[in-house]
Amino acid sequence: MRKKIVAGNWKMNTTYEEGEKLIQEIIEKKSAVKNDVTLIVAPPFTHLCCFAEPLCKAGIGIAAQNCANHEAGAYTGEVSAAMLASIDVQYCIIGHSERREYYGETNEILLEKVKIALKHKLTPIFCIGEKLSEREAGKQFEVVNAQLQSVICQLPAADFEKIILAYEPVWAIGTGKTATSAQAQEVHAYLRKVLKDTFGVAADHTPILYGGSCNPTTAPELFGQPDIDGGLIGGASLKAADFISVANAF
Ligand code: 13P
Repeated sequence: MRKKIVAGNWKMNTTYEEGEKLIQEIIEKKSAVKNDVTLIVAPPFTHLCCFAEPLCKAGIGIAAQNCANHEAGAYTGEVSAAMLASIDVQYCIIGHSERREYYGETNEILLEKVKIALKHKLTPIFCIGEKLSEREAGKQFEVVNAQLQSVICQLPAADFEKIILAYEPVWAIGTGKTATSAQAQEVHAYLRKVLKDTFGVAADHTPILYGGSCNPTTAPELFGQPDIDGGLIGGASLKAADFISVANAF
């Protein structure tokens, strides 16, 4: 009933040439992935324009890793949602913990980004998750609830239905320390409940992805959980064989 999605967040990795090679490998291996799994790749901005067409032909979605919180104008170095849409980018990762932490992106800024992305028909992949200190203090539910309330719960119902959510506990990102399937499921079920309280049954259709050291070894158990609808993959998305193997973990 819900879409199964595996999205690769390349972060700031690959030169254009390296990225082109990786894309070719992913496209070649795509036939090994079941039809009911949506594959999405989020390469760096510099690669998007040239990758959009081959990915589209291969039936693979293309995402940006960020977009500006302004429509257009004097914002040196920024890339707008309209620019992304104009080169056929379909999705945009918004609110990744690295953006929140290193670039000071607040919930207010993230709400602006989500609204602008939606306005330009980009599907936001909205990321939330608690830090290690917050998990150790037992505050994970409080933290993710606040992140949802200040951004996603502010949207009109019709926009909410377009959102993909990603739960990425910060302590699990790039650390090799995956959340156990029980820890992840517990939070995913909570998130769905929070969304249901605001948006009703529409929340049953929201894909909620898990991210944080998700790889071919850990994915099968995670993807077997009732409220985990796929993954947002960092490190393991940089090797075509691993990325495809995660996509086949359902
Ligand atoms: P890793 O899979 O490298 O832990 O990264 C997860 C992530 O941040 C995806 O957005």
